[in-house]
Amino acid sequence: MEENVILVYFSLDGATEYIAQKISDKLKCDLLKVTYKSARPLKGFLKYFIYGFQASTKRKPQINYRPVNLSNYDTIIIGSPVWASSFTPPIRSFFYLNPVKDKNISLFFTCGLSAESAVKKLKIFLGYNNYITEESFKAPFDNNDEYLQQKLDNFTKTITSKL
Ligand SMILES: Cc1cc2nc3c(=O)[nH]c(=O)nc-3n(C[C@H](O)[C@H](O)[C@H](O)COP(=O)(O)O)c2cc1C
Repeated sequence: MEENVILVYFSLDGATEYIAQKISDKLKCDLLKVTYKSARPLKGFLKYFIYGFQASTKRKPQINYRPVNLSNYDTIIIGSPVWASSFTPPIRSFFYLNPVKDKNISLFFTCGLSAESAVKKLKIFLGYNNYITEESFKAPFDNNDEYLQQKLDNFTKTITSKL
């Protein structure tokens, strides 16, 4: 049990949650899910338009999460989908309300194409921390198990080597 490690994530459609579960199973770390307070089940074009707009205009929507004291943790893993080449608004709200400094931080994204720009933006937003590793998972449900396992192993091993 990694008592010093927490994984904070947001997932709209389940891909990020799927990866978050796998990582927390491997590390036996705490898992904290962030959700929208107003669960508006947006679908189709509206989903991309409204959530994409929220992400690119740096909105901080109201969120729900289990109360947590991040000062109890040295290592924080953050998981988010890529939205409009950025990280998601609920993750912005969470770390605005729970700022982090001098933590060991690892990031993972799930995405359709690329997470490069989202990684950069999240690091800038979070500020001064010790960034350990980052990984992106493209359409993780489509990946074959072996490839996914390899990526998960590399990610979690890098994190444990720095504990
Ligand atoms: C509003 C919205 C915007 C998105 N923008 C991007 C993007 O800019 N780049 C990308 O690679 N994928 C983008 N995607 C795809 C998601 O990042 C991808 O499907 C992700 O795995 C979804 O995670 P989830 O199932 O945990 O919600 C977008 C999806 C949504 C809903």
